[in-house]
Amino acid sequence: MPTLLIIIASTRPGRAGLPVARWFEDAARRHGGFDVQVADLAEVNLPLLDEPHHPRLSQYTHEHTRAWSRIVSAADAFAFVMPEYNYAMTAPLKNALDYLSNEWHYKPVGLVSYGGLSGGLRAAQMVKEVVTTLRMMPLPEGVAIPFVAQHITDGTFTPPELATQAARTMLDELVRWAGALGTLRQDR
Ligand SMILES: Cc1cc2nc3c(=O)[nH]c(=O)nc-3n(C[C@H](O)[C@H](O)[C@H](O)COP(=O)(O)O)c2cc1C
Repeated sequence: MPTLLIIIASTRPGRAGLPVARWFEDAARRHGGFDVQVADLAEVNLPLLDEPHHPRLSQYTHEHTRAWSRIVSAADAFAFVMPEYNYAMTAPLKNALDYLSNEWHYKPVGLVSYGGLSGGLRAAQMVKEVVTTLRMMPLPEGVAIPFVAQHITDGTFTPPELATQAARTMLDELVRWAGALGTLRQDR
């Protein structure tokens, strides 16, 4: 079974990212197509990029980078649970992406974005540009959750029905892409 790594992209206290990620993790486990793992960037706690060498050389000098490398290497596919901050992805997500290179290559990524009116879609579009540079395949099928706060009560996210359906569709596609891109990863 391929491994799906869910990356929680917001780190601030009281974040919506945690309840949304808990819901999506449950949806991914129910889907049954993946061994599901979660990386919470608040716990991963990477400093701002402090490696002297370009990541594509994989010459890491810090244990935090080696630990992050092991986590990302073990994944066959990713899902980013990500808000929109000032029309963009969060700084912790960009930093976590920049830390590595080969570990991301030839793996698909599904985006679970949220925010106000836009449902985080401007940030999702921006992430696509970054991840394709890292040779990842961002799926057109995604989950966008507008007005996320309206769906969270006492720390629990209750998804709108459309989000549940969108998550299922995205997970189906992630399974297909994870399998297909496996060929490219073996060829390296
Ligand atoms: C620094 C910051 C910038 C934000 N910028 C946007 C934005 O550009 N578009 C938007 O829809 N919501 C924006 N919001 C509102 C967030 O979508 C909302 O607060 C969401 O809960 C943030 O995710 P988090 O709780 O996981 O941190 C912003 C929130 C913060 C804290």
